[in-house]
Amino acid sequence: MTLMLEEIIGAVSGKLTEDQKRRGVLIHAFQKIQEEHNYLPEEELHKLAGELNVPLSYIYSTATFYKQFYFTPRGRKIVRVCTGTACHVRGAGKVMEQLTAEFGVKDGETTEDLAMTLETVGCIGCCGLAPVATVNEDIVGEIDGKKMPGMIQMIKE
Ligand code: FES
Repeated sequence: MTLMLEEIIGAVSGKLTEDQKRRGVLIHAFQKIQEEHNYLPEEELHKLAGELNVPLSYIYSTATFYKQFYFTPRGRKIVRVCTGTACHVRGAGKVMEQLTAEFGVKDGETTEDLAMTLETVGCIGCCGLAPVATVNEDIVGEIDGKKMPGMIQMIKE
């Protein structure tokens, strides 16, 4: 028997508690706000609390539960350096040092002009290309002294 989408939603929805439904709405709202601002600005969360008539503390406790939401402005380019074992062994630390020297930010920081946020990440599954980093959606592999200028250029574009 094949269920129609409405039936599935109805069946699932009937099993959700009011709190789960409210959280679902909030997560969707957070995603929309973050899409627009690149993070969750305080004033937007205040506005949301007012519109949904829920305490601001509930808004924050829900948002902080999920690692995908940010509370400070993020860079236009998100640079994630893999620090998994293979990348660590093959020079991820040096990659971080060079990016820190070039952009003046450490792990978890964003440049003042909001051009770039530097982060570390666990293995992203490209160990054969270690050391690896991502610049937004693009993967840069086998980062060495020769590749670094190109990567820096890519971040600045
Ligand atoms: S350890 Fe870096 S991609 Fe796997």
